[in-house]
Amino acid sequence: MLGVEALDDILGRVLDSGALILIAGSPGAGKTLLASTICYANASNGIPCLYVSLQETREVFFKHMKDFNMDFSELESRDLFKYYKVPIIIDPELINNLISELSAYSSKYKVFVIDSFTPLSIIVGEDSKTRALLQNFFYNLAKLENSLVILVAEIPIGKDSLNLGGVEFVSDVVLILKQYVERGLITRFIEVRKAREAPLSIGEIPFKIVEEVGIRSFTPPKLEELPSVVRGISYEYPCRELNEILGPVSAGSTIYVVVPSDARSTETYVPGLVSLSLALKHRLKTLIIDYVRPPHTFIDSITEYALRKSPRSYEVINKLINELVKINYVNPATMSLEELYTYEIELVKQHQPKLLILNRVDIPSRIHGTEKYFTYLWNELLWFRKHGVTVLRTSAYVNMEEYLQSASISETVIRLFKTRKEPSLKLYLWTERRSPKIVDFQVLSKCLDEFIYSV
Ligand SMILES: Nc1ncnc2c1ncn2[C@@H]1O[C@H](COP(=O)(O)OP(=O)(O)O)[C@@H](O)[C@H]1O
Ligand SMILES: [Mg+2]
Repeated sequence: MLGVEALDDILGRVLDSGALILIAGSPGAGKTLLASTICYANASNGIPCLYVSLQETREVFFKHMKDFNMDFSELESRDLFKYYKVPIIIDPELINNLISELSAYSSKYKVFVIDSFTPLSIIVGEDSKTRALLQNFFYNLAKLENSLVILVAEIPIGKDSLNLGGVEFVSDVVLILKQYVERGLITRFIEVRKAREAPLSIGEIPFKIVEEVGIRSFTPPKLEELPSVVRGISYEYPCRELNEILGPVSAGSTIYVVVPSDARSTETYVPGLVSLSLALKHRLKTLIIDYVRPPHTFIDSITEYALRKSPRSYEVINKLINELVKINYVNPATMSLEELYTYEIELVKQHQPKLLILNRVDIPSRIHGTEKYFTYLWNELLWFRKHGVTVLRTSAYVNMEEYLQSASISETVIRLFKTRKEPSLKLYLWTERRSPKIVDFQVLSKCLDEFIYSV
């Protein structure tokens, strides 16, 4: 295994009987981090790993990896890991020495990392005999010993070619790590350029380097593997009227709430609060990802509302919120979309909520471009559905196209709009397989009241 979910999904089979894996990329692309992640994942599972370094010193390596929560010294003390620092080799003759030393380790270790292969390749130069010897050694190490051999290779900045004397041809897997800078934000990809015996449809896997966590990536789930929504699990709204029109909410479905962007009165919070009350009523763990930092959060709003209605309910609701609700602020302008989605999925994996509230989704959509946003949104919603997470997306109304696009991938739509006649605030309510209804705003606030008095 490689210990990176998306890669294991795609490459799982290739690794069964030993494999030579080439990881190439320009400086800072994450090669050392990926190679150590693979090493760490195996060693932690009892498969010993030897890390052959021609670059970093032992101290730097151990310290750097500790920042990503990889404690190699602990593995070393259990004899599952060894850091083998190779002194600078300037004489091609010494390649033979290296080979024989590594051979001595071949029965004990099952994962080998060479970080990096590039200096070896440079020393060998035009010497085709030594080159063949070196490549055969690594190839046989993988195949005869049934090991994972990972060769890291440097690609000079601005170049796309490997210039490694053909090692890419004997490798079973070639992974190219890439980074683009778009509008000042880094997007990282693993390009799976070659994977022997694996059917490939996804060529580029976006990933993010998360502090204290390491490499995180996800591949879009296949539609044919997904349930439509989670059958048999649904949640009722806290009031009869809303249940008749919209309820119950199926687990894994998406609710889209739209409010006027130029009139976001306190009332525009209420649909979100009703959804939060649904979560509290059913004791659902809830994660809120907020793309703005409003003066009043969902949590402030619902507790203040409750306090106005009944001090006793306020106590109960406060307690429920402390137990069940986690809030995270994310500025979508600080991450590329690929990073943003990887990060959000990571948050969901960590907190395992049953309800996810994404507040003000119009912001990432505007920042990153609606079209690109839609592709990732679609994949992300599939992932949430696969994991039974119900999603509430709230948005300020931007334009008809964006509204319809979001509505088209939602099971429920709650749209607030102003009319000139009294009472001015109306709700357009729609859920799949039912006719839409237009009702007075009071339906929602009454629903919230009912919840508050019932706790
Ligand atoms: N503590 C950290 N938190 C988040 N990212 C980090 C951290 N340390 C390093 N990085 C990122 O990881 C990358 C370095 O990865 P590395 O595996 O050393 O690259 P390579 O071996 O390809 O040169 C850098 O681009 C840097 O931005
Ligand atoms: Mg490196």
